[in-house]
Amino acid sequence: MRKETKKSQSNLKQAYDKLKTAHGEIREAYEDMFVRLAIAAEYKDPGISGHVRRVSDYSTAIARSMGLPEDEILIIRYASMMHDMGKIGIPDSILDKNTVLTAEERKEIEKHTIIGSKIFEGSVFPLVKASSQIALSHHEKYDGTGYPEGLKGEDIPFYGRIIAVADYFDAFVSERRYKTTQSFDAGIKEIEYKANTFFDPQVVIAFLRVRNRIKEILDANTVIEDFVKFQAAR
Ligand SMILES: [Fe+2]
Ligand SMILES: [Fe+2]
Repeated sequence: MRKETKKSQSNLKQAYDKLKTAHGEIREAYEDMFVRLAIAAEYKDPGISGHVRRVSDYSTAIARSMGLPEDEILIIRYASMMHDMGKIGIPDSILDKNTVLTAEERKEIEKHTIIGSKIFEGSVFPLVKASSQIALSHHEKYDGTGYPEGLKGEDIPFYGRIIAVADYFDAFVSERRYKTTQSFDAGIKEIEYKANTFFDPQVVIAFLRVRNRIKEILDANTVIEDFVKFQAAR
């Protein structure tokens, strides 16, 4: 009888371990696919090399600085990679334009928020839901002057408020077709200056608290493809 109990306990443990491994693999495959989707999106907008990777790293650092639980930090890490996914629905003639955009073209580009949210909408999975929310809200501004909905303050989804800081900072310090590079210190000052107007002041405080980590990420100059290698090396 005792022997039987021991045997069924060991079978149960084996089944549990198998399930745990399978669960881990599904999760890693899921995360891996997110990284690859982000790579696909960067092919569409190669002028922003490394942007998606840095936005993910900055957002993760901010989330950690805000003391969020590890499962939420992971959601932010991967869902933030999807923030500009809607650009796949924007014509190349606008995305690749070297000169200043017309008001009409600007409106067209702003639609990437809505397109991105539609790509991920309707899912029951937290990571996919967060991707939809982030895609839609990462250009909203704390004072209500952002787009596409002109949401104000805490009406802007929390994750969107985090990614807004990460995204803006990266665009500010990076070279783009329409602007030159700005220094790290200028980027920090710009974020500080725009607390309460563009950004949630609590997110800005969290961002400033980890400014050394932000500098490391910027200096590391990694691209999203390196993330895949990192995953493989784990
Ligand atoms: Fe965007
Ligand atoms: Fe972006």
